[in-house]
Amino acid sequence: MAQLFLDTASIDEIREAASWGVLDGVTTNPTLMMRAGTADLKANTLKIVEIVQGPVSAEVLSTGAPGMIEEAREILIWSEHVFVKIPTTAEGLKAMREISSWPNGRVNATLIFSPAQACLVAKAGATYASIFVGRMDDAGLDGMEVVRQTRTIFDNYGFDCQVLAASMRHTAHVVDALLAGADIITVPFGVLQKMIRSPFTDVGLERFLADWAKVAGTGTD
Ligand code: E4P
Repeated sequence: MAQLFLDTASIDEIREAASWGVLDGVTTNPTLMMRAGTADLKANTLKIVEIVQGPVSAEVLSTGAPGMIEEAREILIWSEHVFVKIPTTAEGLKAMREISSWPNGRVNATLIFSPAQACLVAKAGATYASIFVGRMDDAGLDGMEVVRQTRTIFDNYGFDCQVLAASMRHTAHVVDALLAGADIITVPFGVLQKMIRSPFTDVGLERFLADWAKVAGTGTD
């Protein structure tokens, strides 16, 4: 079954989404931390882990492999649920190769914009390949095609790396990513809210309750 992650660092949003009972994990990044108004990555990540008890990604800030590896060493011992997010660069690949050789080396390769990048992170041992669909669409490209092609390539060659569809802008992205065979979809809270809402459901429920009130008012069982 596909997994559903929330793309946020906001504890309130994560609590609410978790209470719906459909949340498998969380992805954060420095921008999302900034939006949540906290610079304490460890404390915030551990709060999230306590709520979801599933994969939670925390991103490194170093750009050189040695720094990324050092940060990852620290991040990965916070909890067995934590994944370290490493950017998809040449330095990132070196770090992924090293980190993924550790017994606790859970790597989420981030900022992927092509199937070629996805193949490289899979070869470097990443567990997740995060493809930024919305950012490609924003630039006039076909982001979902990258998800489709990556899925096919991973299946053709039996790559042991999960396709994570990220940078989701709307519910159609979610549905298309599922149809494209993504293993994981990470959505902002606003998109999750839109996934559950339908005006037809609201109108249908109103009518059921109004009709029930009519019959209940007559005392008929
Ligand atoms: C993924 O892990 C990223 O946090 C995320 O999806 C970024 O998306 P954005 O384009 O909305 O910033």
